[in-house]
Amino acid sequence: MVSMDKIVSLCKRRGFIYPSSEIYGGIAGFWDYGPLGVELKNNLKSEWWKSMVYEREDVVGLDAAIVMNPKVWEASGHVSGFVDPLVECKNCHNRFRADKIVDSTCPNCGQKGKFTEPKKFNLLTEVLLGVTEPKQKAYLRGEITQGVFVNFQNVVSSSRVKIPFGVAQIGKAFRNEITPGNFTYRSREFEQMELEYFIKPDAKVADKTFNDWREQRINWYKSLGIKSENLRLRKHKDDEKAHYAKEAYDIEYKAPFGWSEFEGIHNRGDWDLGRHNLKYKDQESGQEYTPWVIETSGGVDRATLFFLLDAYQEEDKRIFLKLHPKLAPFKAAVFPLVSNKTELVDKAMKVYKLLKTDFFTAWDDRGNIGKRYFAQDEIGTPFCVTIDYISLEDGTVTVRDRDTTKQVRISIDKLKKYISEMISYETR
Ligand code: GAP
Repeated sequence: MVSMDKIVSLCKRRGFIYPSSEIYGGIAGFWDYGPLGVELKNNLKSEWWKSMVYEREDVVGLDAAIVMNPKVWEASGHVSGFVDPLVECKNCHNRFRADKIVDSTCPNCGQKGKFTEPKKFNLLTEVLLGVTEPKQKAYLRGEITQGVFVNFQNVVSSSRVKIPFGVAQIGKAFRNEITPGNFTYRSREFEQMELEYFIKPDAKVADKTFNDWREQRINWYKSLGIKSENLRLRKHKDDEKAHYAKEAYDIEYKAPFGWSEFEGIHNRGDWDLGRHNLKYKDQESGQEYTPWVIETSGGVDRATLFFLLDAYQEEDKRIFLKLHPKLAPFKAAVFPLVSNKTELVDKAMKVYKLLKTDFFTAWDDRGNIGKRYFAQDEIGTPFCVTIDYISLEDGTVTVRDRDTTKQVRISIDKLKKYISEMISYETR
C-alpha cells in the first residue's frame, strides 16, 4: 500500500492538491485543488451526477445556499446535537477529540492520563452578517442536507416529483473540526455529494430502500475502479449514530491510516421534515403524511483522496495512476516524436487540436518520448498519442495504453472514436 507521504508529495508536485494559503504558512484543515486536482474532482462529481440524476427518472437536482437562516440549524438539532467531545491535555494544553485518544496518551506530548473532563464542542462554523452592530450570527452549513429539506415544498410544487423521489445535491460544507488531519481526509471545508430520497413512512419500505441504496453506492465506487478488497460496509453502533439517524452504515476505504469512512448511508426517518413541520400530500389518495428519508452522503474530497491512493502503482521504477479513464484529468496526451522536425510538430498539433474539442488533452514536446510517457503515467493520462514518421506517410498514429504500456496504430480519422470507446469501458 502506498504511503500518505508519497501521495501528498505527488499531489503537490504534479498540481493535484496544495495546502491552502501556503505562502502565509497555510491554515489547518483547508486545501486548494490545483490544475489536475480540479479536473479529477470535477470528473468525479460529474460521474456522480450522471448516475444519481441523469440516469434516473425519480431524482432531481438542487443547489442551495451555503448560509441559511440560523433557525434551520436550531430546528435540525445541529445547534444542540452536532457536537464532538473535546479534551485538553493539562501538560501541553493542546486540544483533542476525546474519542480519538488512544491509551489515554496525549498525541502531542505523550503524557498519560492528563486530560480535562470531556466538554461538548459544537462543530458548526459561525459567521457574522450585516453592517450594523450587533451583527447577525449565522452558520456556514455543517451538512449540505438541510438545504434540501427546507426546499422540500418548493421542489414538490415546482416539479413533477411524486413519492418516492430523491433530491441530489453537491456542495461545500464546513465543520470546525477539533483535529483536522490525514491530509484532506479531515478538513474544515469540504464538499459533499448527497441524495435525500423521500419515501412513505413505512419500516418495510425504509429497510428495502436503505439496503438498495447501500448496495448501489458501494458498487458505484467499484464500477469506477476502487478495488473491492479495499472497500467495506460498516454498521454504526447505537452510540455512534448521528442525532438524526435511525440506522447508519459507512462505506469505508482501507487507507494507510486504517479503515476510514468516506460515505454514510442513513435512515433519517421523519427527523428532518418533522422538525421543519413539513408534510407531503398524496394527490391521488389525498392522504397527508411526513415522509421518511434515506440518505446517501459522500465526501468528494475523501473519495478523491481514496481514488488517488487506490490508483497509485509502482512497477519497474514506473509510477502510474491507474485511474479509471472517466476520472483521469487528461484523457489523452499528444506528442510529436521529436520536436525539431516541423512536419511532425505541425501534424501533431493538428491531432492535438482535433482531440481537444472532445477530450481534455495534454501536449508535450519536451525531452525524450520515454520521459513524456512517464510524466503522463504519473498523472494518470490513459492514452498517449505519438505522431512519428509513419504518420506523415499514412495518416496513422501510435496510441500507448497507460496500464499495459502496449501500443496500437490507429488512423487519425478513427482516433476520436477509439479514445471515446476506451474511456467508457467498464471493466479494467
Ligand atoms: N448529511 C449527512 C452527513 O453529513 P456525515 O457522515 O457527517 O453525514 C458525510 O458526512 C460525508 O461527508 C462523510 O462520509 C465524509 O466523506 C464527508 N465529511 C464529513 N466530515 C468531513 C471532514 N471533516 N472532512 C472531509 N470530509 C468530511
